[in-house]
Amino acid sequence: MSSFVASHAQSLRGTIKVPGDKSISHRSIMLGSIANGVTQISGFLEGEDALSTLKAFQDMGVKIERKGSNVTIHGVGMHGLKAPSNPLDLGNSGTSMRLMSGLLSAQSFDCKLHGDESLSKRPMDRVIDPLSSMGAKIDSQDGKPPLIIKGGHQLNAIDYALPVASAQIKSCLLLAGLYAEGTTSVTEGGITRDHTERMLRGFGYDVESTNGRISLTGGGELKACDIEVPSDISSAAFFMVAGCIAKDSDITLEAVNINPTRTGVIDILKLMGGNIVLSNERVSGGELVADIRVQSSNLKGINIPKESVPLAIDEFPSIFIAASCATGETVLTGARELRVKESDRIQVMADGLDILGIENEVLEDGIRIRGGEFCKPNSVIQSHHDHRISMSFAIASLRCQHEIQIEGVDNVQTSFPNFIQLANKIGLNIREVF
Ligand code: S3P
Repeated sequence: MSSFVASHAQSLRGTIKVPGDKSISHRSIMLGSIANGVTQISGFLEGEDALSTLKAFQDMGVKIERKGSNVTIHGVGMHGLKAPSNPLDLGNSGTSMRLMSGLLSAQSFDCKLHGDESLSKRPMDRVIDPLSSMGAKIDSQDGKPPLIIKGGHQLNAIDYALPVASAQIKSCLLLAGLYAEGTTSVTEGGITRDHTERMLRGFGYDVESTNGRISLTGGGELKACDIEVPSDISSAAFFMVAGCIAKDSDITLEAVNINPTRTGVIDILKLMGGNIVLSNERVSGGELVADIRVQSSNLKGINIPKESVPLAIDEFPSIFIAASCATGETVLTGARELRVKESDRIQVMADGLDILGIENEVLEDGIRIRGGEFCKPNSVIQSHHDHRISMSFAIASLRCQHEIQIEGVDNVQTSFPNFIQLANKIGLNIREVF
């Protein structure tokens, strides 16, 4: 188990490009594998989560070649996947497990999906229940992994209203819907990331989307295409917060995906007074990207708008660090989902903020944070093996005169393998100790 030791720094300068988007990388492997023809991917995230998906499809007989972030997939068509000879190990990746459950429920073979300790605790009933009503047969451990998916069942379309704002449930059902008889519709209460819908269209599949109701009809085919994966806004978010809280900063994050279903962190930081400017907006690989310039900011506490919550769902750990450096109080509610991410991100962040001397109150579905000083010496934070918790506390060092030690940072590899290198390149002072 390794740790970060983050020492104080205050001046950030430079231009960096964070790695490829995790959500898009997963989907590119899944859709490329079941397409007809050869799909070329550039900018693929070389993180453990996306690599778990890649390996799983190789284990199901798909020829996939990778040279760094360039990936070539020799698609096997809708019905060409083969039974894996061993259970599929999806590591830490909830996205792999939830999305693949939909796809694998419709195959002719049985398979078992399992993962690490954190993934084994995460709720899968949210996908098992609607998939079961489509005719899927899935065994679980009381709604948790491992999952055993029985093949050979024809699925029927479903008309489903999402009980929680979740792109993973939506995507799982759309992937199952590709194989179902009839038209599958998913209605979402709040907006969630739409990469599945966009990419299906990119592969030539008809997907309708009106007023939060997304529909597709089963039985079609996917045509291979080239995919350029843009930089992940969820990784860029750590540096957006870093740029805002550092006393002297002027940094630029290049070609970040600003898909409007993902930009909650920009809206929230701007509302707090963040000095963030987008430029050079363009379309790349069917997604909107921009360069993002961030400079030192005098942040103030806010009530985080409820509608921003699903649009910033992965960015709250770093937003809590921003709130800790703001004047006044920041209040987040309507974010119960944070409790079932890679860790209980409300409690784990609150525990870390307590250690650093930041006043906070845990709410059932959020948190109240009073901005202050990270003042406690000898702080040792437990990340609970959650990559985003580790990176968030590492950037807190910009406002802490003492070293911060963060334990259990190995899982930073799941989403942002070169985090330390990029962080130190712009002026942070983080080292990993083993
Ligand atoms: C993801 C959706 C989100 C997010 C996760 C990736 C995706 O989960 O937290 O990191 O790629 O669809 P939910 O849709 O369950 O909120």
